[in-house]
Amino acid sequence: MPTKFLRSFVLCAFAACFIATSISAQSSKQASDFHGAPVRSGLATPAIEKKVDALLRQMTLEEKIGQLVQYSVGSPTGPGTGRGGYAEMAATGQVGSLYNLESVKDANQFQHDAVEKSRLHIPLLFGLDVIHGYRTTFPVPLGLASTWNPQIVEAASRVAAQEASAAGVRWTFSPMVDIARDLRWGRIVEGAGEDPFLGSAMARAYVRGYQGKRLDAPDSIAACAKHYVGYGAAEAGRDYNTTEISEHNLREVYLPPFYAALDEGGASVMSAFNSLNSVPASANPFTLTEVLRNEWKFPGIVDSDWTSIAELIPHGIANDGKTAAWKAFTAGVDMDMEANLYHEHMLDLVKSGKVTQAQLDEAVRRILRVKFALGLFDKPYTDESRENHGALPAESLQLARTAAEQSFVLLKNDFLASRRVLPLASDVPTVALIGPLADDAGSMLGAWAGRGNPQDVVTLKTALTQKLGAEHIKYAQGGEILAASDAQIEESVAAARASDVAILALGEFTQEMTGEAGSRAHPTLPGRQEELLEKVTATGKPVVLLLFTGRPLVLPWAFAHVPAVLELWSPGVQAGPAIVRTLFGEATPSGRLTVTWPRAVGQIPIYYNALNTGRPAGNRDLTHPPKDAAEKYVSRYVDELNAPQFPFGYGLSYTDFSYGAPEISAKKLSAKTLNAELRKNSADAKPVLTVTANVSNTGKTAADEVVQLYVRLQGTSVEEPVRKLKGFQRVALAPGETKKVTFPLGADSFALWDIRNEYTVEPSLLHIWVSPDSSRGEAVELEITD
Ligand code: BGC
Repeated sequence: MPTKFLRSFVLCAFAACFIATSISAQSSKQASDFHGAPVRSGLATPAIEKKVDALLRQMTLEEKIGQLVQYSVGSPTGPGTGRGGYAEMAATGQVGSLYNLESVKDANQFQHDAVEKSRLHIPLLFGLDVIHGYRTTFPVPLGLASTWNPQIVEAASRVAAQEASAAGVRWTFSPMVDIARDLRWGRIVEGAGEDPFLGSAMARAYVRGYQGKRLDAPDSIAACAKHYVGYGAAEAGRDYNTTEISEHNLREVYLPPFYAALDEGGASVMSAFNSLNSVPASANPFTLTEVLRNEWKFPGIVDSDWTSIAELIPHGIANDGKTAAWKAFTAGVDMDMEANLYHEHMLDLVKSGKVTQAQLDEAVRRILRVKFALGLFDKPYTDESRENHGALPAESLQLARTAAEQSFVLLKNDFLASRRVLPLASDVPTVALIGPLADDAGSMLGAWAGRGNPQDVVTLKTALTQKLGAEHIKYAQGGEILAASDAQIEESVAAARASDVAILALGEFTQEMTGEAGSRAHPTLPGRQEELLEKVTATGKPVVLLLFTGRPLVLPWAFAHVPAVLELWSPGVQAGPAIVRTLFGEATPSGRLTVTWPRAVGQIPIYYNALNTGRPAGNRDLTHPPKDAAEKYVSRYVDELNAPQFPFGYGLSYTDFSYGAPEISAKKLSAKTLNAELRKNSADAKPVLTVTANVSNTGKTAADEVVQLYVRLQGTSVEEPVRKLKGFQRVALAPGETKKVTFPLGADSFALWDIRNEYTVEPSLLHIWVSPDSSRGEAVELEITD
């Protein structure tokens, strides 16, 4: 790996963001935690190390290799090995982990084989993709991120951990912390969006929720930050495609959420499928060893992704399985998920000296560490009575509903006559409910719903019927997501004509179009849904468009012509109640976009934290024939605006907010002081600047506002983005209420990876905004002197 990558000695880190709960919604402290030190992992305690040492001394070569091996027992999400006999392998110490088990009984049975029959009684570690809930399915991660509420994400992950662990699962392949700037990529739905600061806050929240206060509590599960690293930068948004990311961008954008997840104590990492700068991420010594082990001192497991070790052959860096195993292992991948190559070749590799005993011991040590930390040696079995086969508990449902409500992003809400379309009046005589997603329980569960069950879902149609009574609803399915007949469209138009308002529930075919292998070159409404929308809108009735999507869709016609549009993502089990409460104003939309919403596919990749260029055109409309060279030779399109449809951070409410000018506690700071602060241990790091702004609710509805803080640095050794998010708070405001929102900023808020790839604060001029999204607000200036 090029040594130009090996330079930096300080660590990448971003502040954790502890924001107020949306429900209590008091503004609270923004903690800064850059500490320039290895990640704070609780895994390698002296007590655990002692146990690992003792066990390692007893293990044969074959038993050690067995710990590195992992297979899927059911529900394949990729090409399988075709092998079986896992019970026998467990009994003879040839496998360390199984995943995708169907039941707690299966887990206990396999565990029995491993613990009672194998020579050293080493327990298996059972994994599963618990991504946005186990059975209580919460909104998809992109929706959860849109809450801008890490506390609700933590609470949702806690519920997921409790349910999953009751089924024997002690390891989730989550959180997915890939930054994604390209909505064509289906997996954008699995992450927190385009921003590393927000992504880091969410990463920490997931880890806290999954791992709980103690990893060895029976209801805690080990987290896995994935996919390490750069997977979200797949060229052209095509899944599994190549990525090219400079070290600067890697450290500024893609690595921070991984650092955050591991610094929060995350027990494992999954190495990605993609090629990163011409070296596959699952055999990349720079990212896997240099950054992860040498800089961050991460003591946990690196698991491969599904057959990603075998994929080194088609990638072209190995001509046979043995070489693939050798390259992945020596680059830093401890466990082989499903490729079967460590099982087949590791013995030879060690015997021939290509892999040393010390390297093998180190990998086994990491796996055993996590097993000890989880308490598996003391309590290998799961109490089968813990699993709930009955109705979901009321508290979990309440949490799922609140999370869904906070994830909804109101994109448009025009006035029709003297009032806005939303919220609807509860005495509306007749509502036309139209669209393939109005009563589709399965689709509400989203891209990766663990053991989510459509029978637990309350659909929009059910909830609306409960609210208004069937006699007030004219329902027309309007066809399927991918196809509709003329008759179905006509029936929908007739329903709209006979009603006072039309609600259209439209969107993507979740299972095929979002998530893994769900990339789209045409991210619009599939099938005849746009035609349906246009025809219903042409009736002249007020139309509310509800979008159920895993990404922003490029829908310029809809945003120009439909008066009200609400993005709902995949809301989970409580979809219907959350939507109905929002439609009728019992809940106020407070979600904000965590990805920039483009107006044209040709604008992609489009993200708010971009560089300015030497010829910035800003957001001026320069699509007309340029009148002079100043209009022509700037960074723009001749046929489209630069401005997105909606910027990062955007979202409307049922009230209005106004912002006072931000104030700062100092006009000048010194780089020297900030750098000293930056290198302090996090526990001793102090805020270096306080930014305050008054935020008022000027309308008549109580609501949460997501107050956002951005910075721009100029005069630095490398170009800095036009804005970078450095703080956010969800603040509850009563009608007419003003709150002073305070952001204490740490030195890391002003740090950057400089031209030498060192993390530092440089003398510079700063603009700081406290604003409702990434495109608005008044800036205050600050100088950082030498
Ligand atoms: C996905 C991972 C997932 C793994 C195990 C892979 O195809 O990329 O995100 O954790 O399968 O199911």
